[in-house]
Amino acid sequence: MEIAQNGMTREAIFERLAELRKNDARWQEGRTYGYIFNPGRDVTEVGKAAYSAFLAENGLDFTVFPSLMQLERELAGFGARHLQGDRQVVGNFTSGGTESIILAVKAARDCYREKRPEIRLPEMILPATAHAAFHKAAHYLGVKAVTVSVDPASFRADAGKVQEAICDNTIMIVGSAPSYAHGVVDPIADLAALAQQRDLWMHTDACMGGFLLPYFRRLGEPVPDFDFSVPGVTSISVDLHKYAYTPKGASLILYRNKALRKHQIFTCSHWIGYSIVNNAVQSSKSGGPMAAAWAVLNYVGDAGYLEIARKKLAAVKKIVAGIQRIEGLRLLTHPDMSLVSFTSDDVNVFHIVDEMHQRGWYIQPSFSFDNSPAHIHLSINASNVGWEDELLKNLAECVVIARRLPDGTLAGLIKGSLEGVDLSAISEADIMAMMAAAGVKNGELPGRMADINGVLDALPAAVREKVLSTFVNDMFSQL
Ligand SMILES: Cc1ncc(COP(=O)(O)O)c(C=O)c1O
Repeated sequence: MEIAQNGMTREAIFERLAELRKNDARWQEGRTYGYIFNPGRDVTEVGKAAYSAFLAENGLDFTVFPSLMQLERELAGFGARHLQGDRQVVGNFTSGGTESIILAVKAARDCYREKRPEIRLPEMILPATAHAAFHKAAHYLGVKAVTVSVDPASFRADAGKVQEAICDNTIMIVGSAPSYAHGVVDPIADLAALAQQRDLWMHTDACMGGFLLPYFRRLGEPVPDFDFSVPGVTSISVDLHKYAYTPKGASLILYRNKALRKHQIFTCSHWIGYSIVNNAVQSSKSGGPMAAAWAVLNYVGDAGYLEIARKKLAAVKKIVAGIQRIEGLRLLTHPDMSLVSFTSDDVNVFHIVDEMHQRGWYIQPSFSFDNSPAHIHLSINASNVGWEDELLKNLAECVVIARRLPDGTLAGLIKGSLEGVDLSAISEADIMAMMAAAGVKNGELPGRMADINGVLDALPAAVREKVLSTFVNDMFSQL
């Protein structure tokens, strides 16, 4: 692109921006079951106003913007209390779950560099359901991710398998509350007990559930212990931009005490310029997300969140029961919160997803990995409340239609073209040829994705990763 020679009018700019959105998910309608946490117009307006009020303030230096330090301390204090921490618990505001997780892994790594300097390659044990952000952190930080299978029936972490994977290089154990894929809370108390016995770091990833689970508990749900009330839990990540409905760019990383958190902080005076003291990965950062998070939390308030949780819980129960009644669908497990996953033993789930997309729903296809089959995922949020009957009716119809659809000729063609190819050595040219055969042109995906998803699902995870990175590298080319 070349920027406009003489500047565009405000009108032309917003017209163009609106036009660009025409193929986006229509999340405002409430039929999007992922990526979006929409509290409704009223709350969104408060978040927007606070965001723009602090748009320019820079979190790079809290001495210049003490307002941001005050907001951050208040938010971390809220997080500590919400997750049953004592006065020793401290934390920081980050841009999202991934940043919080990267920081926790960095803190653990640096803590054990001091404590166990003999460890050359530190390892962290991840149940297979631990979020991909831990693999990203491992990749960025030189920590080895050791993945262990979860229980095949409940999809909760298997403490026995975690115990078997502990070795002399282990520094950290991770559990989720709940896991993204199946929405179940891991046996955090068992994992934390193991961590205590072996003097390891225990992180609870409560990015999804840290805010909402305490409300579900207050509503009488049997929520297992996962927070600082569990001895041995060292750190917790909890996102605000998910079930606290604050604008995106808002998460907290919390530590049991300052002696642990100190390993998160990065300082640099080894250059000619201002000295850096960063609590987070980002350096310059807008005060917008933090002010918006503070504003939304206080605008909705405790009673407001409890009421949202009550409605959401009723919607989840209705959806779970409805899915169980649809012939051909099978819940993977009973969810502990508001993330629901289901599959089919005789219908191609990717066809179901395509059919639903054509009817204006966004539901998420997920590939098979380890002992979890390909499935459909729903993250249910406040804006989905009220759509349950319509969702279930459409799902039932789509299952019937999907059952009649043939398994893709394209998938067969592509699988055929890969026959005899050593997948571990698959070239970028092979991958691009495969994508072209699947209908990907000029960075645009075909309307129906079942074929492509079917092929990706059939590939080993490492090859799938290579295909996806080659494809994205090609897709994001210059315009
Ligand atoms: C359990 C869990 N952890 C971490 C993350 C990463 O959060 P983010 O997308 O904000 O980086 C997610 C995102 O869905 C999640 O579900």
